[in-house]
Amino acid sequence: MDYRLRRLAGRNLLSLTDITREEFEALLRRSFDHKRGLVSGTPLSGRTIAGIFEKPSTRTRVSMEVASTHLGANFITLPREALQVSRGESLRDTAEVLSRYVDAIAARVRRHSTLEELARWAEIPVINMLSDRFHPLQALADVMTIRENFGDRRVRVAFVGDGAANTCHSLMVASAMAGYEFAVGAPAGYWPDPDVVEAARTVAAEEGGSVEIFEDPKRAVEGAQVIYTDTWVSMGVEDVDRRMEVFPPYQVNAGLLELADEGAIVMHCQPWFLGQEITEEVAYGKRSRAFDQAENRLHTSKAVLEALIPPRKI
Ligand code: CP
Ligand code: NVA
Repeated sequence: MDYRLRRLAGRNLLSLTDITREEFEALLRRSFDHKRGLVSGTPLSGRTIAGIFEKPSTRTRVSMEVASTHLGANFITLPREALQVSRGESLRDTAEVLSRYVDAIAARVRRHSTLEELARWAEIPVINMLSDRFHPLQALADVMTIRENFGDRRVRVAFVGDGAANTCHSLMVASAMAGYEFAVGAPAGYWPDPDVVEAARTVAAEEGGSVEIFEDPKRAVEGAQVIYTDTWVSMGVEDVDRRMEVFPPYQVNAGLLELADEGAIVMHCQPWFLGQEITEEVAYGKRSRAFDQAENRLHTSKAVLEALIPPRKI
């Protein structure tokens, strides 16, 4: 395995800002190896991952479970309600106890601070399977999908919709690492968190990329090779009525796509809400790469699990 991947052993992945650009590239290379069938054996034979879910999941849960099986590991799915945390047990005790049994904790949480608290007390790697702020596993699969379409070309990626969504934050950091031009088209009040923009801009400046934010979705999409959107109502958000009022001009539809590059592709992490953030015609149209993204979650999950779970102590 690439020495840059070995450096990840024992580390957490709460956000892509936890890893270097070189480590990010090494994870992508390994993901492509998995997809091409170049990795044999079961490097995580006999290992166990505890997967905590505070929210529903299809792609993340199944890709992590299947990735674990292919690597020889066992993934235990633990809905929050099945754990004693639901009766008030502390995250500290949960993390300390799980550390005595398993080799990594993966968690999908309502608040990012829950992951930070788990990571503070766990003696094993903690992996973010989605929080209110970040979705790093998704962004890895997204850049893998972009590379499948555009190779090493430094593309323009337009994220249209909820700029403060976990997916936008993580794709912004990932795009900065890849040296992409990243443009957000989002309504006022739903712009990305300033600390994430600042972190992404710092990385983008080093890699030759950029991060821009527009209220006008057309300005974000102009000339873009990648048009990305996500639900207007992420799991756990409360201002649903307000969102339904302000987001309709940000729908990804055939009209908006006319402003994009001729060969532009459309991406969505799914689940999508057809007729809201994306039309059915575009979602299932020839430019859509959503199902490739979903597939790539499997290959990137394998690379992450393999890299973060340290070799067994003899
Ligand atoms: N994209 C994604 O994370 O999907 P799930 O919510 O189904 O895991
Ligand atoms: N932003 C969405 C992503 C779902 C995979 C949410 O958090 O609900």
